[in-house]
Amino acid sequence: MTDDRVREVRRVVENYVEPCLGAPLSEAKAVTSVRSEAGHTVVEVELGFPAGRYGTELADRLRGLLGSAPGDGPVDIRVSWRVRSQAVQGGLQPLPGIANVIAVASGKGGVGKSTTAANLALALALEGARVGLLDADIYGPSQPRMMGLQGARPVSRDGRRLEPLEAHGVKVMSIGFLIEEEQPMVWRGPMVTQALTQLLSDTNWGELDYLVVDMPPGTGDIQLTLSQRVPVSGAVIVTTPQDIALLDARKGLRMFQKVAIPVLGVIENMSTHVCSKCGHEEPVFGAGGGERMAAQYGVALLGRLPLDIRIREETDAGRPTVIADPDGPVGRAYLEAARRTAARLSIPGAAGPRITVEDT
Ligand SMILES: Nc1ncnc2c1ncn2[C@@H]1O[C@H](COP(=O)(O)OP(=O)(O)OP(=O)(O)O)[C@@H](O)[C@H]1O
Ligand SMILES: [Mg+2]
Repeated sequence: MTDDRVREVRRVVENYVEPCLGAPLSEAKAVTSVRSEAGHTVVEVELGFPAGRYGTELADRLRGLLGSAPGDGPVDIRVSWRVRSQAVQGGLQPLPGIANVIAVASGKGGVGKSTTAANLALALALEGARVGLLDADIYGPSQPRMMGLQGARPVSRDGRRLEPLEAHGVKVMSIGFLIEEEQPMVWRGPMVTQALTQLLSDTNWGELDYLVVDMPPGTGDIQLTLSQRVPVSGAVIVTTPQDIALLDARKGLRMFQKVAIPVLGVIENMSTHVCSKCGHEEPVFGAGGGERMAAQYGVALLGRLPLDIRIREETDAGRPTVIADPDGPVGRAYLEAARRTAARLSIPGAAGPRITVEDT
């Protein structure tokens, strides 16, 4: 009887299609033990992505699925997590102490990339991960403002490396900390990539599970060079649903494929407009663009964020939505997108084959 129960519980838990992974728990090898112990059935699940908050939600959902017949003892579901370091693109070495670098990119400027990068980083930290955020947008650094660190200056303790600043539990570094805000950047491409790779390696990040990089917008030489030089485990493409933004987002996607960086998926920003007066939601820029693009390229749609004035207000005030209102619908949407991002990263190969296109 107990053997049957253990088998049945194992079958249900292993076959559960976990929404962040987009795959059964068995495929992620997440079910580490199902056993009978002092009249209880004990289930141990170990996720490869941070789940400090999500763990309880998942345990509740699994418990709900299991049901019980008379005579079945209680089920203890224990969810833990551990972030592993994933491979980086060929020829590069991972950065010491940094388990995974996630690049947040967009083909086009102004689509909400920095807002998304900040909220993703904060969401991963809220789930318990050790997170850094590198503002690589040298022409328009916005993370100092978004993270509420405007005017702050990093210091060096050893005279060699800069200490990152910290906001809401995330370590932050930005060229914006080192230059005057209104100072126009007139650097040429090679100087930019040099400055950025230096900013990356000359920062004392310590041990990180994730370093989220807010990439400069576009798919030009600077972006290409960066994606060849920075050891990245996965990329996220931010787009709005307009055709023109989607066209540029496709270019972004192909750029990463070209350098064999797995694209973890697409985040559609400003998907719908939520009226601040009545809460009515409308797809002002057209519906389903991100979804179609994801399907066309065989990548995941990691999330959809509405065009909502509170996102702008909270971000402008240095308290992005994940901090200002983590349990509201938008905060939850960011948390979910972050979990999906980290979950896809945790199963190598889930982000599609590494396609290398040789330059000729
Ligand atoms: N979903 C949203 N709803 C409302 N406002 C948003 C949303 N996403 C971003 N914004 C706002 O839109 C503006 C542009 O966003 P953001 O700076 O993140 O874009 P970006 O893609 O990083 O731009 P850039 O190309 O200049 O770096 C900001 O003022 C931001 O607060
Ligand atoms: Mg930006």
